[in-house]
Amino acid sequence: MKKILLIKGDGIGDEVVTQTKKIINFFDKHTDKKFTCEEALLGGVAYDQYQTPYPKQTLELAKEADAILLGAVGGPKWESLAYQHRPERGLLGIRKDLQLFANLRPAKVFNALCDSSTLKKEIVDNLDIMIVRELTGDLYFGEPRGVSTLADGSRQGINTMTYNSKEVERIARVALELANIRGKKLCSIDKANVIETTEMWREVVSEIAKKDYPQIQLSHMYVDNCAMQLVRNPKQFDVVVTGNMFGDILSDIASMLTGSLGMLPSASLGEKQKNGKQFALYEPVHGSAPDIAGKNIANPLATILSFAMMLRYSFAYEKEADAIEKAAALVLDDGNRTADIANKNQATVSCSQMADKVIEKLNEIMAN
Ligand code: IPM
Ligand code: MG
Repeated sequence: MKKILLIKGDGIGDEVVTQTKKIINFFDKHTDKKFTCEEALLGGVAYDQYQTPYPKQTLELAKEADAILLGAVGGPKWESLAYQHRPERGLLGIRKDLQLFANLRPAKVFNALCDSSTLKKEIVDNLDIMIVRELTGDLYFGEPRGVSTLADGSRQGINTMTYNSKEVERIARVALELANIRGKKLCSIDKANVIETTEMWREVVSEIAKKDYPQIQLSHMYVDNCAMQLVRNPKQFDVVVTGNMFGDILSDIASMLTGSLGMLPSASLGEKQKNGKQFALYEPVHGSAPDIAGKNIANPLATILSFAMMLRYSFAYEKEADAIEKAAALVLDDGNRTADIANKNQATVSCSQMADKVIEKLNEIMAN
């Protein structure tokens, strides 16, 4: 019995997680894979109830769970709160506390959607890249940080980009392992021509690759060039590894290649501990989309595909993970579209209908 913690969060997080729970229930009911779900609050909804975006009991429940499925956090309602009360602090807090340093963001173009991208079809069809973003270091967490007032009354802002070589090594190994089971190509992204921290990053990645992964074709690229190459010729990439800040930006670019932010899943993984336990949090790459929240029109596929990643990476349930990915592809092949991936004048299905369609296909796939 696997224990899943559901954290719906804010905005459309509620509906996309609720719909994905139906998929979890499907497996629990119709297969030998058993799940129990608990729920916890994070983000704005947590602030509203407990005056903190990150209640203690959420961390406790997160530590007890076998894996976490998160919707999204944030929204205009909480934007004017003091920094430490904002919903994003909840998300960053849980990433840091569970040391979820490895963020896997696959950008895969479904056949049925290669016309939905803003890029030409031939640039994106069959695209399948994996962005590996370091998630617990860099400018996001570096000290010193903050804004202070100087003697002359002007204000000064400081954030610190910092990595130590151990942090670089552990994310490099995750990326190299992934490259090894994929296309055996890794591109490491830095700004080594300007920023020393990333020059060290480049050296460490090179050393590890040379020493332990000679079979992997390693290349390096500056982050500005990478942003350009991702829209010029994204298929040149297989696995991409980079730091927290660059990864935040590049993964948004990569996600849009697939047609919609509403399609992209992600996994955030911790280190395997001695007792075999590994903290893991799965979430769609999209945000809380407050403008469409509560209307049952959000695309649940990114969250459903995040659950598939959970089955694969946390539980090694490969067959079930494949089934979900196949079901999603078939549902799209049949022409089902939520608003975000529909072409002009194309009929749309709702968030809950999309999940029901996936379950119909899962029924067929798992019966065979
Ligand atoms: C992401 C988001 C978060 C980040 C925000 C919501 C804190 O943009 O997961 O990419 O910057 O990491
Ligand atoms: Mg982001």
